[in-house]
Amino acid sequence: MKVVTTIAEYKDARRQLQGSVGFVPTMGYLHEGHLTLARRARKENDFLVASIFVNPAQFGPKEDFATYPRDPDRDLRLLEEEGTDLVFMPVPEEVYPAGYSTWVDVEKVTERLEGAVRPGHFRGVATVVCKLFNIVEPTRAYFGQKDAQQVVVVSKMVVDLNMNLEIVIVPTVREPDGLAMSSRNVYLNPQERQSALVLWKSLERAGELWLGGERRADAIRSAMVAMIEKEQSADIEYISIARPDTLEEMEEVRNPALVSLAVRFGKTRLIDNTILGT
Ligand code: PAJ
Repeated sequence: MKVVTTIAEYKDARRQLQGSVGFVPTMGYLHEGHLTLARRARKENDFLVASIFVNPAQFGPKEDFATYPRDPDRDLRLLEEEGTDLVFMPVPEEVYPAGYSTWVDVEKVTERLEGAVRPGHFRGVATVVCKLFNIVEPTRAYFGQKDAQQVVVVSKMVVDLNMNLEIVIVPTVREPDGLAMSSRNVYLNPQERQSALVLWKSLERAGELWLGGERRADAIRSAMVAMIEKEQSADIEYISIARPDTLEEMEEVRNPALVSLAVRFGKTRLIDNTILGT
């Protein structure tokens, strides 16, 4: 496995890769979610490339950029075990040199949900993902359904800007008790960790209601709110039932529907989602 930190080194190494390239962009502190993306990319391509870059542009001024968990040695060990061929691990100045001034703004689908609560977040995500695609030159890039809006934003950017690659969406990987794996789960204290189970439980409840024939978004949302509010440390930011492609809210739930939510447990903000229907 080759590890490079500059774009020039990457370009040199990329020239050796003759065949299809599967790319897994990450911010590091890898867990089974990331590694599942890597395995899938490994299987479907001749070469596997990963990036580790905590992207300052997608963090708000009051967010956790400085304290975002980092463990590059462990990350590299895990990527090596998955048979990764090449890792791109730049410092921020390599990606955003002095005078950097070009940004990718995907309109509309970034206005709601995470975009509404985290202004500028998706501008940072779209910009870095666009730059990474240009640098890495992948055949396919792998993204987790865990970050449902990110998948929508990146897919829209690829279509709108005629980017020459395929986006592959990988189902959310969960802990045995249902909590979606996330690098931010390490912030939770034991009591918050227990409370956080309500995220998945409330999504499962939404699924049961849907299967039982409930089609009123309000009724499903109220049932979820009631469950989550039983957890003292839980503070709901949003619960959305929307079209998976445009993220427009639905009053009457149609097939398919994306149910997504963001909830704070103490200082930690967690997101999760599920798709109702096919
Ligand atoms: P990061 O949070 O490190 O996630 C990297 C990839 O792993 C994303 O596609 C994310 O959706 C996926 N992922 C995270 N947890 C997952 C889980 N439990 N199951 C399945 N996939 C999971 O997302 C980012 O980084 C950044 O925004 C990035 C795309 C790298 C741009 O900076």
